[in-house]
Amino acid sequence: MPLKIGIVGAGVMLKYQAEGFLSAGAELTCLAETNPEAAHKAAATYNIPQIYGSLEEMLVKAPDNVDAVSVLVPPAFHKELSIQALLAGKHVLCEKPPALNAQEVAEMKRAAEKVGKVLAFDFNNRLRPESVELARRISNGSFGQINSAQAIWIRRSGIPGYGSWFTNRQVSGGGALIDLLHMVDLALYFMGYPEPICVLGQTFSDFMEDQTRRGAYGQVGDRGISDVESSAHALVTFRTGQILFLRSSWAEMVKEEQCFVTIQGQKAGGKVLRLFGQEYEGDTTADTCEIYTQEDGKPINTKVTVPYDRTMGRVSVAANFVESVEGKNVQLATPAQALRLMQIVDAVYLSAKTKTAITSARS
Ligand SMILES: NC(=O)c1ccc[n+]([C@@H]2O[C@H](COP(=O)([O-])OP(=O)(O)OC[C@H]3O[C@@H](n4cnc5c(N)ncnc54)[C@H](O)[C@@H]3O)[C@@H](O)[C@H]2O)c1
Repeated sequence: MPLKIGIVGAGVMLKYQAEGFLSAGAELTCLAETNPEAAHKAAATYNIPQIYGSLEEMLVKAPDNVDAVSVLVPPAFHKELSIQALLAGKHVLCEKPPALNAQEVAEMKRAAEKVGKVLAFDFNNRLRPESVELARRISNGSFGQINSAQAIWIRRSGIPGYGSWFTNRQVSGGGALIDLLHMVDLALYFMGYPEPICVLGQTFSDFMEDQTRRGAYGQVGDRGISDVESSAHALVTFRTGQILFLRSSWAEMVKEEQCFVTIQGQKAGGKVLRLFGQEYEGDTTADTCEIYTQEDGKPINTKVTVPYDRTMGRVSVAANFVESVEGKNVQLATPAQALRLMQIVDAVYLSAKTKTAITSARS
């Protein structure tokens, strides 16, 4: 029997997830969407037979037609909708960021454990082919222990959804740091998701009122609420002795957009890089992976060629979710990892607010 998927939110991610769910043999049975126009358009595009105005209605009216729920709505609703679906006995794939903060993720994690269902998160950059290749080499020991990493996603002018939920902390949970969380997750994934013990960070909100610093992504909002950071810089140390430096910005005085993770291991170093503005198979971006080793006393830099994934791993994440629910694959991003990630995010915001380093007590 194909896994029956109920979608919540007909947002931009639906096209990738629909492709991924279908490729793994699942069926799109229901769609819950608060905007009827968006609902009908998406239902027609993706051939989804049943439409509801809310997840609650979907769960009441079609409980047997949904085995798993995909939450594709703004972050303020991730916790509530995921827990609602879990407690109704459904598996959940939730968009990033996992929720508004660590407290919310802890509640989601508890709900998943209580009902024994899969709760996964869309950290699609982990399934970009170059990330998969680097992770494979890390796990086979080619890098040795990863001592340090840098997670960078910086933009000169790229504020998404200017004046919409993106720039409204109550709905988004924060600005550039929480939105561009992918590289931080990827670095932690490469490092083995170690336990953080100290976070020192600072955030800035320059340019948030400057409409010329808008990015192409997201609808422009009319409320104009703008109370989140445009950039974040932080240093995180871990109980293992590892260290991570992170930078995220929507708008900052940098030369150009950059998006990468670099790692330095005891045996090798590496970089997963997204290139912007370059022609690649007719697209404007390309992704690469580099490995740095020392052989016979000489520095060797290897560029690893992998197939290009135009969807940046997003289709693969949806397929992985179906396969992990069906017990055919290992779940990609777990609630424990999401919790650790959001503890770091919370600590960066707290460190910025209090102008102190945030340390965790030894448990
Ligand atoms: N993984 C990625 O690469 C990636 C990229 C972009 C966005 N996202 C994430 O996807 C999520 C959605 O972002 P978006 O840009 O598509 O947002 P969006 O504002 O376009 O919202 C998506 C849809 O959800 C609907 N919606 C909102 N609340 C709802 C509710 N309670 N029930 C049902 N429908 C509801 C809206 O009407 C809208 O059609 C966010 O968490 C965002 O961070 C992830």
